[in-house]
Amino acid sequence: MTATEPVDLTVADLHPALGDPALTSMNFLNEVSERYPAAVSLAAGRPYEEFFDLAAVHRHLDTFHKHLTDDLGHSSEQARRLLLQYGRTKGIVHHLIARNLAVDEQITVDPEAVVVTVGCQEAMFLVLRALRAGPEDVLLAVAPTYVGLTGAARLVDLPVWPVAGGPSGVDLADLSVQVRRARAAGLRPRACYVMPDFANPSGVSISAEDRRRLLTLAAEEDLLLLEDNPYGLFHSADGPRPPTLKALDTGRRVVYLGSFAKTVLPGARVGYVVADQRVAGPDGRVGPLADQLAMIKSMVTVNTSPIAQAVIGGRLLENGCSLVAANTRERSAYTRNLRHLVTGLRRRFPGRAAVRWTVPAGGFFVVVTVPFPVDDALLDRSARDYGVLWTPMAHFYDDTAPVCALRLSVSAVTPQQIDVGLDRLTALITDEVARRAG
Ligand SMILES: Cc1ncc(COP(=O)(O)O)c(C=O)c1O
Repeated sequence: MTATEPVDLTVADLHPALGDPALTSMNFLNEVSERYPAAVSLAAGRPYEEFFDLAAVHRHLDTFHKHLTDDLGHSSEQARRLLLQYGRTKGIVHHLIARNLAVDEQITVDPEAVVVTVGCQEAMFLVLRALRAGPEDVLLAVAPTYVGLTGAARLVDLPVWPVAGGPSGVDLADLSVQVRRARAAGLRPRACYVMPDFANPSGVSISAEDRRRLLTLAAEEDLLLLEDNPYGLFHSADGPRPPTLKALDTGRRVVYLGSFAKTVLPGARVGYVVADQRVAGPDGRVGPLADQLAMIKSMVTVNTSPIAQAVIGGRLLENGCSLVAANTRERSAYTRNLRHLVTGLRRRFPGRAAVRWTVPAGGFFVVVTVPFPVDDALLDRSARDYGVLWTPMAHFYDDTAPVCALRLSVSAVTPQQIDVGLDRLTALITDEVARRAG
């Protein structure tokens, strides 16, 4: 090879995760929607964007800046530096996140146990990187599983071992079986990833009793629980929400993963992790797991943009640190859409047992089960010939078995778009059933 010859690499020469469906899944789904921009998208789990307001972003920044000077006593020089310079690895809105968790979730947490991250995605990556100590380590995860979690696990060479989700959100008997099976195979299950509230993609929530049982089981099996909660605020029913696992956690079993993508702005790319587990360092000094995660973060993103954090901080401050209060419009839009979708399905598929759907108590997602396998080729045809996008549920399972289900999302559409999307989906399903019968 000469010095001027271009160097060609193949994926086979790169990290094995790069050839893995878990990593290509998101790109594929984005590509399909870019290829068919006129299609109605019941695929995107993006938040409703009609409420986004650029002027509010400026105001949030100012509010946070004022908080730094007036409440925390920083000089304007210090406040300017905090916002515009490199900064604290664990973040600068940790105290507001701790306050938010106390106000909205009755979670008491030391702000030092919080790491502010570049989206929840980075939080997942940091936790998985830290937990993967050796080749015997595995992560249990309720299936179907959010593909961002599976992809992050791949990148740190941590196998994901599925646990049945089922209608109750987590099958506790199966969790015990899988822990034992993994241990019998010489593996070390480090943690179980769960989404107790309106899971992505299943939409299912775990009952308050099962949350308590899950914590007991985690203690008995000496497992950590990774609780991911991006959708918990968007419950449809009136009345109290069930407590988060972290609120019930008296034994530091739960690592809590938070995202401001759905409750403030996805463009800010801010999330966080609460990691209050105590870790003894080589010198015998004990600190929160958050400190170890910060060490990893310092080598991944250094620190989360303080400007982005300030936007989140300002929004929190303007709402008494309550995202419940900040999201009343959003919650009612999602509730209205979810009801509209479920009513629309009922109207379009009356008495057709072959087509079934979940009726979630909140969140963004409904899963529709159909009498034929749903794959990427069908999605492509749906977008091209019928003008409607959705997500094949196969993307959320870590194997190649056919899956006869698709995920619909109500978050980024209007009721009118839901009607159009459902009409088109109904035509697709009807034609597909007829095609297979004939
Ligand atoms: C379950 C779940 N966890 C994490 C994330 C990632 O959140 P973020 O945008 O804060 O990285 C998402 C995004 O859709 C999600 O659905």
